[in-house]
Amino acid sequence: MSVEKMETTSMSNGAANAYEEKENTLSPEDLSEMLAAGTKEVHEKAENTQFVKDFLRGRIRKELFKLGAVALYHTYTAMEEEIERNKDHPQFAPLYFPTELNRHESLARDLEYFYGPEWKSQVSCSEATQRYVDRIHQVGREDPVLLVAHAYTRYMGDLSGGQVLKKVAQRALKLPPTGEGLEFYQFDGIHSAKAFKQLYRSRMNELELDVDTKKRLVDEAVKAFHFNMEVFDELEEMGKTIQEDVLDAGMPVHGATGGDIS
Ligand code: HEM
Repeated sequence: MSVEKMETTSMSNGAANAYEEKENTLSPEDLSEMLAAGTKEVHEKAENTQFVKDFLRGRIRKELFKLGAVALYHTYTAMEEEIERNKDHPQFAPLYFPTELNRHESLARDLEYFYGPEWKSQVSCSEATQRYVDRIHQVGREDPVLLVAHAYTRYMGDLSGGQVLKKVAQRALKLPPTGEGLEFYQFDGIHSAKAFKQLYRSRMNELELDVDTKKRLVDEAVKAFHFNMEVFDELEEMGKTIQEDVLDAGMPVHGATGGDIS
């Protein structure tokens, strides 16, 4: 284990314990509470987009899943580039956990698995993804505190639903149980997603931010959810033009014609 890792792990545990003790004393002005409350409605909207609903049912075409991974690759590349640029910024530094959170490399390995060694020349950034990427770069360069909202929206979401999505995709796309193609969903540096999320919340609450900045962060997180939904909608549209090669590989469909030969 690297020194850096030992340090963050022990800090993680200590801070997570301290947070648990404090959990009952959280106030509505705490950033973690403002973000959770302020994005509740848009979270429900995101869960109800057609693309996400289909994904949860295991109705995923492999080509579309691959395009989703491409969109994530561009998004995380931009986000982690801006996080790296701002890792010493006092209003972001406490949320800097590259060992635990970074997804750029795992997504690159997933894309290599799906598209082969020449994957870079075979993928491009879609229009909706580019708009999301542009906003992340703008924020990172011009208003870095707002990066907190982007990191929150993606990493906390990945740590919340990731394992379910991984299982659905593995089953639907018949991917190997060894995890190839699904590294994005696997956080090897995090033993307990629940404890890590608590640590992350406590770090967000310790940032020195005035009320106005906290409100701007909630607005930016809502924006980040919208960028994600625009990517989902775009994928949904692209799906209509892709040949239906892998469908209904999720939960067994009873009574479907041509399904059970017996
Ligand atoms: C939290 C489910 C989609 C972002 C959560 C939690 C659940 C959940 C159960 C609560 C976890 C906890 O309290 O520890 C789902 C389901 C989704 C979905 C079933 C549909 C597949 C998304 C999307 C995003 C997102 C598309 C954004 C891109 C978040 C965030 C949190 C969260 C930021 C943390 C909320 C907080 O505690 O402040 N999600 N989610 N989720 N999700 Fe999702």
